[in-house]
Amino acid sequence: MKRKSVNLGLGLALGVGISGLVLLKHQRRKAAECLAWQEQRRPALDVFACPDCHGVLKVAALAEADGYYCPACSKNYPVVSGIPHFIQPQDLTGLNKRFARIYDWVSWGYRLFSRLAFAFIGMSEEQGRREVTDRLEPKGGRVLEVSIGPGVNLPYLVGRADVGEVFGLDISLGQLKRCRDYVAHQGWDVQLQLGNAEQLPYQDNTFEAVFHIGGINFFNNKKKAIDEMVRVARPGGRVLIADEYEKGAQKYEQLFPGFGRHFDGKRAAIVPPLDLVPEAMLEQQVFDIWKGWFYCIDFRKPDTMDERKR
Ligand SMILES: C[S@@+](CC[C@H](N)C(=O)[O-])C[C@H]1O[C@@H](n2cnc3c(N)ncnc32)[C@H](O)[C@@H]1O
Ligand SMILES: [Zn+2]
Repeated sequence: MKRKSVNLGLGLALGVGISGLVLLKHQRRKAAECLAWQEQRRPALDVFACPDCHGVLKVAALAEADGYYCPACSKNYPVVSGIPHFIQPQDLTGLNKRFARIYDWVSWGYRLFSRLAFAFIGMSEEQGRREVTDRLEPKGGRVLEVSIGPGVNLPYLVGRADVGEVFGLDISLGQLKRCRDYVAHQGWDVQLQLGNAEQLPYQDNTFEAVFHIGGINFFNNKKKAIDEMVRVARPGGRVLIADEYEKGAQKYEQLFPGFGRHFDGKRAAIVPPLDLVPEAMLEQQVFDIWKGWFYCIDFRKPDTMDERKR
């Protein structure tokens, strides 16, 4: 009896020891990949702009870390572990603050949730993701994903012959860290920024394609976010904006009873915000994707002033 329990104890200790070693090896590999990714980073001074005043940024050695400095309004933006921070989470307000926190917490399970959600809808994640990303027309230029999350759309962008540099922004540092680990593991050259969709840290007319999936319904200010996506898109560039219809939000409320609490019982019914797209945008349309669970708004920024007036 005594011998049996000694053997059991030894077995357990061995199991714990081996698991610890495997975990340590995994952490070391992850740290090395992240470092390699960080070393690849270079200042994107031709792309970034001050999110507050749109001034051109300079590289600066800040007290806490290297980063960017805006000479026009004297604001500093540190770069932490390769990710420029264009917002401070403590400055966020309203729904933006709540959702940044929620996504920080749930980031660990978001990938799995996404796969399960597509299975529930009755399609593969690849089919669903491509339904949106295949519509982008980057023509070899830069692509921006606003609210990139942990990078679930990246496999359908990176390596595509018509896709140039890829940039991704999110308000949740938790999501961005997952995204960073993922792109570092894949060895992808993707630039990530912590920021708010309503105040994008990019220069005007910078991206050939801009897209957003899954957050806009609950932004503080949808109009500001759409105007920002238009501002940073290049003339002639395509913008896609997708999110769930009302029936999708109601499904969340059933599955996650805490979800409704964030609106103090006053959540407005979801309507695709096509009316917030500036009138001058061309080829405006809204259509169903993901078997009717999501809407997608699609438009093109006019190429020239002439095209705008037509
Ligand atoms: C449902 S997830 C979508 C992630 C990914 N785009 C996808 O297709 O699955 C919504 C994302 O929006 C981000 N988000 C919420 N409010 C935001 C804001 N004001 N600015 C930027 N990102 C925001 C969240 O942090 C979260 O990562
Ligand atoms: Zn500034």
